Amino acid sequence: MAEVVVYIAHSVDGFIADRSGGLDFLKPFDGYDFGYDAFIAKIDAVIMGANTYRACRTFSDWPYPGRSAIVMTKGPPIDGDGYAVFDGRTPAEIMEDVIQAGRRRIFVVGGGGVVRAFIDARLVKKLILFQIPVVLGGGAPLWPPGRRSVPLTLVKAAAHRNGVVETEYDIS
Ligand SMILES: NC(=O)c1ccc[n+]([C@@H]2O[C@H](COP(=O)([O-])OP(=O)(O)OC[C@H]3O[C@@H](n4cnc5c(N)ncnc54)[C@H](OP(=O)(O)O)[C@@H]3O)[C@@H](O)[C@H]2O)c1
Repeated sequence: MAEVVVYIAHSVDGFIADRSGGLDFLKPFDGYDFGYDAFIAKIDAVIMGANTYRACRTFSDWPYPGRSAIVMTKGPPIDGDGYAVFDGRTPAEIMEDVIQAGRRRIFVVGGGGVVRAFIDARLVKKLILFQIPVVLGGGAPLWPPGRRSVPLTLVKAAAHRNGVVETEYDIS
């Protein structure tokens, strides 16, 4: 079976990007080893929202080379632009194809609407969260309202020496 993991950084007040969609609040922590390289090495497919995709395309390099990338959109499907495939179907339908294609470790990159849709569909098995020591006051929320409450089992809690708090939860 596939394992679907959310791995994401958020401010203390629950935002994953600032009001202009920027990620400057993460910059003070660049270069610190949060285990991302080991995490991404095992991932064979990534799923993200259209804004996150657009943000990724502004980076000098595509951050997910060699992996299937699916972009959720309510707009028309775009069949591959060399980086990602745009897909307007439900999380369950998307996952069916991803598993059919032999992908087993799936990274739900964000934003919050995509994370919520995958959790509401009971597809996410693990949440790995990095709470950044900053209050942003606004921006893109990690947790827009959802359809159901979700009990979580804490499997890791670690305070990094730079003030970032890492929590890992399993979802049964
Ligand atoms: N801190 C972190 O670790 C982290 C991680 C990921 C992203 N980010 C940042 O977060 C920001 C983006 O987050 P966001 O919440 O604004 O946007 P997002 O989820 O990346 O994109 C939102 C768009 O994705 C599509 N979408 C989302 N949920 C959908 C669903 N259930 N079904 C169909 N389509 C869906 C829609 O696209 P259409 O409008 O095309 O229909 C929607 O307008 C970016 O600035 C990114 O850099 C930060």
